[in-house]
Amino acid sequence: MANDAGRAAARALGDPRARPNGRWVSALTGAPIERVERVFAESDRFLAVEREIRARHRAAGRTYYAQFRAPLELYALARLLRPRHVIETGVSSGVSSAHVLLALRRNGAGRLHSIDLPTPQRGPVFGPTESPVALPPGRATGWAVPERLRDGWDLRIGPSQELLPSLVAGLDGVGLFLHDSLHTPTHLAFELATVAPGLRPGAVVLADNTVWTGRAFDRFAARQGVPIRRRGRSDLVGLSVPATRSPAPRARRAPGSR
Ligand SMILES: C[S@@+](CC[C@H](N)C(=O)[O-])C[C@H]1O[C@@H](n2cnc3c(N)ncnc32)[C@H](O)[C@@H]1O
Repeated sequence: MANDAGRAAARALGDPRARPNGRWVSALTGAPIERVERVFAESDRFLAVEREIRARHRAAGRTYYAQFRAPLELYALARLLRPRHVIETGVSSGVSSAHVLLALRRNGAGRLHSIDLPTPQRGPVFGPTESPVALPPGRATGWAVPERLRDGWDLRIGPSQELLPSLVAGLDGVGLFLHDSLHTPTHLAFELATVAPGLRPGAVVLADNTVWTGRAFDRFAARQGVPIRRRGRSDLVGLSVPATRSPAPRARRAPGSR
């Protein structure tokens, strides 16, 4: 049933690779697989959103999205962790953002803070050598996110090198962090070091395209003293910050939220 729901959602989104991996979410959150699958089965909530995202991509001349391969797992993580603050770097059309926004809406709490330095499309037509993350002419960052999900979305435009430090410093604890911006070893190391003091106990940290980022994530995991959880055989990886971690000095914690 839950697998069917995941398959249906991936189909509606237009990419079979988005079929969710429940074991990965279970390893990252400690939630039993049955509970994870119940979250994937909330397809009544996200099928319409997948269809709308796909329609927006098609209207802009994009026949596939292929930008963040685990949007449904991101939804499940945000549902299970119930984070008060989520940070993502790298938005592009907003597939990952839309799924976090949807989950937070369903949670009834929590805020998504996104940072993106847009890559404009080179010409009027999407060429064969063009990056799929490029903005189609006339579109802005997050252009595929349905209007009804945008309320309360904290979207900041600029390089994360400039925007991430003050964002992290201004939040009282981050429960979920996704790196999907500039995939270089130095940049990933910078983002992880910047967000680290703001992470709550039990927070989940994800990084995509680690095939390009050397050992930056491995070193971060070693410093946290936790294993890396890989999504299948892909280079999308994550870890869970120890639940007994001592609180960051500025963090003021509310019960029941990460
Ligand atoms: C792989 S795409 C993000 C895909 C997105 N998460 C999704 O679900 O569709 C990477 C995005 O990061 C942006 N980017 C590149 N360098 C950046 C930087 N230094 N700071 C912030 N964003 C950056 C790119 O322009 C692009 O929009």
